Amino acid sequence: MVASSDVKQPGSEKIASEGPRDNQGGDQETDLATTDLAAMDAGSLWHAMTQHQPFSQKPPKCIKRGVGCYVTDDKGVEYFDGVSGLWCVNVGYGRQELADVAYAQMLNLSYSPLTMSHEPGIRLAHKLTSLLGYESKVFFSTSGSEANETAFKIARQYHAQTSPAGAGARYKFISRYRGYHGNTMGALSATAQAERKLKYEPLVPGFLHVHPPYAYRFAHGPAHDLTDKSAEAAYTASLLQELEMTIQYEGAASVAAVIIEPIISGGGVIVPPDGYLQGVREICDRTGILLIFDEVVNGFGRTGKMFGHQHWGVTPDIITFAKGLTSGYMPLAATVVKQPIFEAFLDEPGSGSHFRHISTYGGTPAATAVALQNIEILEREHLVERAAEMGDYLLHRLQRLLTHPQVGDVRGKGLLLGVELVTDKASKTPLDGASVAAVIQFCMAQQVIIGRNTNTIPGFTNVLIICPPLVITYEEADRLADTLYQAVFA
Ligand SMILES: Cc1ncc(COP(=O)(O)O)c(C=O)c1O
Repeated sequence: MVASSDVKQPGSEKIASEGPRDNQGGDQETDLATTDLAAMDAGSLWHAMTQHQPFSQKPPKCIKRGVGCYVTDDKGVEYFDGVSGLWCVNVGYGRQELADVAYAQMLNLSYSPLTMSHEPGIRLAHKLTSLLGYESKVFFSTSGSEANETAFKIARQYHAQTSPAGAGARYKFISRYRGYHGNTMGALSATAQAERKLKYEPLVPGFLHVHPPYAYRFAHGPAHDLTDKSAEAAYTASLLQELEMTIQYEGAASVAAVIIEPIISGGGVIVPPDGYLQGVREICDRTGILLIFDEVVNGFGRTGKMFGHQHWGVTPDIITFAKGLTSGYMPLAATVVKQPIFEAFLDEPGSGSHFRHISTYGGTPAATAVALQNIEILEREHLVERAAEMGDYLLHRLQRLLTHPQVGDVRGKGLLLGVELVTDKASKTPLDGASVAAVIQFCMAQQVIIGRNTNTIPGFTNVLIICPPLVITYEEADRLADTLYQAVFA
């Protein structure tokens, strides 16, 4: 595996590939203001998830343009974006029609709150409920965290209004270790990644965690040995028993909801065994607990189905969306509840039963119009099917990595893929952070961006993350896989 000191830094490389550019915007000037910008950046901008101290030697890359699967920095260096920004640019960068829709909508109606109504909001809500295929209601907000906060408030109020015990009866939430559900205090409380919580605790009371369906580490036999179905079934049963016992020990009547991602994304790309989601659904039904699916990453084609849960035929009571809903072109999120939940909020005006919750920028006309057009692109270009096809291909190409002694597992569904690095296959000890970072830096030096589960579980930030835009071609998938192969075998 490549050592961190061997990594060449990019800077003087020429643009490597033409890529699918149809909208360069004539932005070809050498940037005379680059130095000023770098000084302003250092002087005023606080970057996410980043230690600023090394910036004096190595400032952050300033990205100027994005087209298709590619982004270009202010030095003119073009990168293949293997993580779709932050897992969100599903239809790829630079889509003229999304910009046109936003432009036209802003001129026509720039803002209107959803205490009233507007056409793109109505049409998008209708589209989402049609895609889900069951009667439901959509509440808009602006981010994945906010969509999950909204889900938590709906779940508590729903129980307060339907349970004989009244308010406060069911207030607890159960999530899984390694899961990420957002950065706000409630969503972070549901997040079960110690490094994301460090120095922000104590968080919101009432959030509990159980183990994730992490077959590679905890089932018997290697996770990719799909023939060992009995070990997998026993493992699934043990996870379901743990959930059931947790509910029993806590008192089912105190638990409002279970929140899970169908496929854990930021926590290390963890695909559940068959039967797991069905089992969780069955336990929730039996105990009167609501089931929330966080599809902030899984949704809108990422896993090779329109929604991640569709792989297992299990529907949630509440579902949350963001990211791929607009492919990152607009800040928009949605919390969708099944009709009977919505109906628990119906009563006479003045009864206090309505959902007393509002998001100023949730569901603006332009954001909802862009989301509709984004879904139209996903459907017109068959990008969900493409994610399934390209995901199978890329997974197959990445499985070549398993011949390396430090590649423990290669897994995923659709274009949500992970590569787990270990010191050796027998012990499965996670590879150290510097060695994992060196693989990423090697790829970056080849102008290929891949991700990693940074700042999640102490000692377990060893999963490489690959989730390119759904428009990726076979040639681009080959480049991605070959670059990673070179990085690992360097
Ligand atoms: C599964 C999941 N849920 C929620 C969130 C929070 O979304 P946001 O950053 O838009 O608040 C994320 C963000 O990465 C996520 O991956």
